[in-house]
Amino acid sequence: MATSTWFTNENPGLRHFWHPVATIDDLDGDGPHPIRLIGEDFTLARLNGQWSVLPSACPHRLAPLSAGTIVDGQLRCAYHGWCFDSEGTCVSIPALGTEPAIPKAAHLRPAADVRERYGIVWVALEPPKTPIPMIEEWEDPRFGKAILPIHSWNASAAQMADNFLDVAHFGFTHLGTIGDPDDVEVAPFNLERHGWSFTSVHHHRSKVLSDATSGERHNFETFDRTMSFRLDAPHHVRLHIDYGPDGDLVLMFFHQPIDVDTTAVYLIMLAENIADGRMTPEDHIAFQMAVGKEDRDLLEQLVVKGVPLDLTVECHTRADKTTLELRRLLRDVAAL
Ligand code: FES
Ligand SMILES: [Fe+2]
Repeated sequence: MATSTWFTNENPGLRHFWHPVATIDDLDGDGPHPIRLIGEDFTLARLNGQWSVLPSACPHRLAPLSAGTIVDGQLRCAYHGWCFDSEGTCVSIPALGTEPAIPKAAHLRPAADVRERYGIVWVALEPPKTPIPMIEEWEDPRFGKAILPIHSWNASAAQMADNFLDVAHFGFTHLGTIGDPDDVEVAPFNLERHGWSFTSVHHHRSKVLSDATSGERHNFETFDRTMSFRLDAPHHVRLHIDYGPDGDLVLMFFHQPIDVDTTAVYLIMLAENIADGRMTPEDHIAFQMAVGKEDRDLLEQLVVKGVPLDLTVECHTRADKTTLELRRLLRDVAAL
């Protein structure tokens, strides 16, 4: 099957949705910074207090604008000094002196929208079909935060969302962390589609998180828990888990489709047991790194870096209802 019938990180429909491109903490000032999204290079800069995403190449002689400097709130190209404002308008061509004749082709087309939220810079290349995914607990004092360093996987964002939504792999892929070989059956569950999102709710028995963190494979306490998933288009995943005695935990997986075989994952965790001091952000980060490594080791072995849009390519069962809905939603993204 041709890869064009697969949903990859370079699907043009992705231009109509929000993507994270950097954390404020990782950016060293206003820029300009080079960024890569959906297989294209761009320039990120804060001009007059507003983040802008402009093409990577200067329209004059194609010098990288990320090599330029910010002067008086404008981005100045390092080669011949052409200056651009936050809308991409070329406002100065020094070689022409005071002549006002700036050619039409000197102007850049900026990304449709750029915002800062949750300490992350978000970009929509075209007018976005949805809002930035919501973290309902962000301001809630009952929750403490743990934020993983950004890391890149050799996989597509669709495959990573597929994996994070999947409840049938825990007892096999995650035997070193959250997996329980005695809990592999997926009970019937509820799934609802709402426009560009869907939710699914799973009830099952689980180990107590603090036992799992200790790395001991035996004598786990178990309890009934509920895992509530939400997928926000194109491939951002929210997972809310009630960890019984360990309190509620929310994981937000945001994905930056960098190019066809590379995805950066931004994982923000919000946990009640951080706010009440029973666990530290470092405990959560170490544990999720261990869980993520199990997924990553498997996922990076998949040869095609995409998810098939032809639903007959894979074999689906009732246990795969959530990840099947992901494929349906991605078909809608691809149809834009
Ligand atoms: S290449 Fe940018 S001003 Fe000439
Ligand atoms: Fe997993």
